Amino acid sequence: SSEGEMNNGSMGNGHMDHDDVVSLIDSTGENELNIPPVLKSDSNKGIEYTIRAQKGETEIFDGVQTKTYGYNGSFLGPMLQFEKGDTVKINLINELDENTTFHWHGLEVPGNDDGGPHNVLEPGKESTIEFEVTQEAATLWFHPHPEGKTSEQVYNGLAGLIYIKDQNSKKLELPSEYGENDIPLIFQDRVFDDEKQLNYKATANEDGTVGDTSLINGTLNPKLTVDKEKVRLRLLNGSNARNYTFKLNTGDSFVQVATDGGFLNEPVSMEEITLTPSERAEIIIDFSQVKTNEEIALVNEDGTTLLPFEITGQTGKNMDIPDEMNDFSVTEEEKNLPVTKEIELFGMMDHVTINGKKFDPERIDFTQEQGVTEVWEIYNKPDMMGGMIHPFHIHGAQFKILSRNGEAPPENERGWKDSFSVAPDETVKIAIQFKNKGIYMFHCHILEHEDNGMMGQVKVE
Ligand code: C2O
Ligand code: CU
Ligand code: CU
Repeated sequence: SSEGEMNNGSMGNGHMDHDDVVSLIDSTGENELNIPPVLKSDSNKGIEYTIRAQKGETEIFDGVQTKTYGYNGSFLGPMLQFEKGDTVKINLINELDENTTFHWHGLEVPGNDDGGPHNVLEPGKESTIEFEVTQEAATLWFHPHPEGKTSEQVYNGLAGLIYIKDQNSKKLELPSEYGENDIPLIFQDRVFDDEKQLNYKATANEDGTVGDTSLINGTLNPKLTVDKEKVRLRLLNGSNARNYTFKLNTGDSFVQVATDGGFLNEPVSMEEITLTPSERAEIIIDFSQVKTNEEIALVNEDGTTLLPFEITGQTGKNMDIPDEMNDFSVTEEEKNLPVTKEIELFGMMDHVTINGKKFDPERIDFTQEQGVTEVWEIYNKPDMMGGMIHPFHIHGAQFKILSRNGEAPPENERGWKDSFSVAPDETVKIAIQFKNKGIYMFHCHILEHEDNGMMGQVKVE
């Protein structure tokens, strides 16, 4: 798209060319980062939780109330802590004036509990789901998924975190004091109007709504105070459409320890990491070597300050990051499986399609047998304008990336994934198995593309 288009209003009403995306405003660091509360289980009921989708007002800017949505609060949601082997019961309540669903992104649950567009809860209605947590330690998240309305509801604030722990994560020596040296970071970009409101209808872009204002865990101008120790950051790209490339302003490297769905086998040293919408990564930054007065910050690709760190004089534990964390592997058998499902992503704005079709809730695009591994090949077909990155996601399973354009994936993608970027003209092969039955969505996680029909359904039977 041309320069002119992008200068026009809402950070661009035109087609989203990656290079054109408006920069974020630097964080001044004047507010301490908000840490989402841990959701307590309902009293005396074992592992039972209640989650309400609700409307509210939030003071994002000093002295101004912004109308927002949230789970069990006015903006964003709490953190749900599950353990592998738990049977979890969740009471879902819709206190909004519109339909919603509760989707557990990355969680391996039966289709009926997945909260896709078929699991609609009307305003004022409640329902209860119950499932067993069968997967390993990971950082997942939850958000709404009503047909055609996902982007607006997430934009208004519906998103929360799920942490899973297991025997392995409990014994690994990694920073794990929630809010102290184990910090969730939900990155989102927004546009605020003159009244400091989120006016989705006015700012929405068919190709993915991006904003100039960076929020982390809902905090404007955040900073994070850390001790001189290793700190684990659980990064979630929770934006509707923006890709983030995270790095340190000092150029120092950090290590990545986990992907979307679990630990990497060993820490991978990185100087920067790109996350497309809905991807997660856990990284560890060593602040023990940083001088107290040194200016250190997490910045975006173009140098924009996202999160300045303030270092206390306090020295924390000095743990060594274990060099063996998991036993993830791609078997020879998986490498040799034929491709049985082909997916072609194409188009832009509201012309996005998968295999030439738009989402139809009445149409099952694929079937797959429960417990059987298949290889899916996802291709991003360029258009006349070159095309754009589509972040591709499949519900109900963690899967393995086998190759990108025929080559082994980068080291930091050799772990469980539920979302991945697909660049124009790129082909990504994955091996996927579903543990449960049901109908699951697969889609582009640019939320406006999802809402515009860049989504299909696989029925697992
Ligand atoms: Cu993050 Cu269809 O989901
Ligand atoms: Cu999902
Ligand atoms: Cu897309």
